[in-house]
Amino acid sequence: MSGTPRIVLLPGDGIGPEIVAAGRRLLEALGEFEFEERPMGGCSIDEHGVALTDEVLDACRGSDAVLLGAVGGPKWDTTDPDAPRPEQGLLGLRKGMGLYANLRPVRPSPALVGASPLREERIAGTDLLVVRELTGGIYFGDSGRDGDAAHDTCEYSVGEIERIARTGFAAAQRRAGGSGQQPRVTSVDKANVLETSRLWREVVSRVSEEYPDVELDHLLVDNAAMQLVSRPAEFDVIVTENLFGDILSDESAMLTGSLGMLPSASLGEAGAPGLFEPVHGSAPDIAGRGVANPLATFLSVAMLLRHGLGRAPEAELIEEAVDAVLARGLRTPDLAAGGDSPVGTDEMTSAVLAYLADDGDR
Ligand code: NAD
Ligand code: IPM
Ligand code: MN
Repeated sequence: MSGTPRIVLLPGDGIGPEIVAAGRRLLEALGEFEFEERPMGGCSIDEHGVALTDEVLDACRGSDAVLLGAVGGPKWDTTDPDAPRPEQGLLGLRKGMGLYANLRPVRPSPALVGASPLREERIAGTDLLVVRELTGGIYFGDSGRDGDAAHDTCEYSVGEIERIARTGFAAAQRRAGGSGQQPRVTSVDKANVLETSRLWREVVSRVSEEYPDVELDHLLVDNAAMQLVSRPAEFDVIVTENLFGDILSDESAMLTGSLGMLPSASLGEAGAPGLFEPVHGSAPDIAGRGVANPLATFLSVAMLLRHGLGRAPEAELIEEAVDAVLARGLRTPDLAAGGDSPVGTDEMTSAVLAYLADDGDR
């Protein structure tokens, strides 16, 4: 990539604008970027009547990377099938940008092991990656109301499963690097009940033959949900379909102590711009109070630099800064335990920026 990277910022709704402003401060502290801020989600419904306009989709497609806060909130919640919903904007963006692979790394910061609802000895050593299929399945199948009934259809094609399986196997190889560790993929499905899952299992098994060095096992999703809390440290890469990945990644987030800690990268074909966003939502219950945890956004900025712009050293520096401020005891309210005096979004952001600015402190 040459020239100044062009980043589209989509603050969205609720705490979205607060955490994206913090993410922008972080990027500005790291170097030169051209920013373009656009409405998407509920704010776009208010302004344009739809959650995602063609102009915003085009701007995202033409950028080097997109940083998103979160969308949605009670103002736009409705059960009317004909009313626009903020979430449609996010789904339209994922589909319209071809972002089929969603990477959600779960690596509890050492200082936060005590903040997880799980016992320390259960979490110790946890370092896993959820690879969620993002543009297929029940999220994008035919749906509708039929008189006093409704339906949502789950569909997957061989091609859709093959490409996400390859993402998962390649990620496992990359994570193992030269470490000598055995790369492992756990494919999660519901093959005892669903036809799409049986196809999934068949295709993932076939693709695994291209990666003989990676160990593959299959887990049913209900069992996977249980094992994620009973033996999280034994997972390496989890590959799964859209809806299961959505649910299992929120569950995994609590291993890190808070949903406010989990970043994500949504990627398409090589060379196409990616979308980077925290896994959590717009947190309407705390919006506008300046207390949102910005760290999932910072870790998403790290993923943007690593996966979107090929700037891994700066990504590592951000991850180091996040660990360092947590090690010093800084906690936003979502992370605070009895006895901690929590800080707000600004103070947490300033602490991370101060760490980055202060070479001598590292
Ligand atoms: P949520 O993730 O917004 O919030 C769940 C809980 O986690 C809340 O108690 C919230 O206060 C807390 N939380 C989340 N992020 C936090 C942060 N950074 N710092 C501190 N606390 C944090 O989930 P929800 O309440 O079910 O959803 C609210 C809205 O967000 C819905 O409209 C939903 O559709 C939308 N949503 C959007 C995205 C997205 O844009 N990517 C993701 C998930 C949910
Ligand atoms: C997520 C969110 C979205 C999803 C919603 C807001 C459409 O929960 O990114 O995890 O279900 O994918
Ligand atoms: Mn989700």
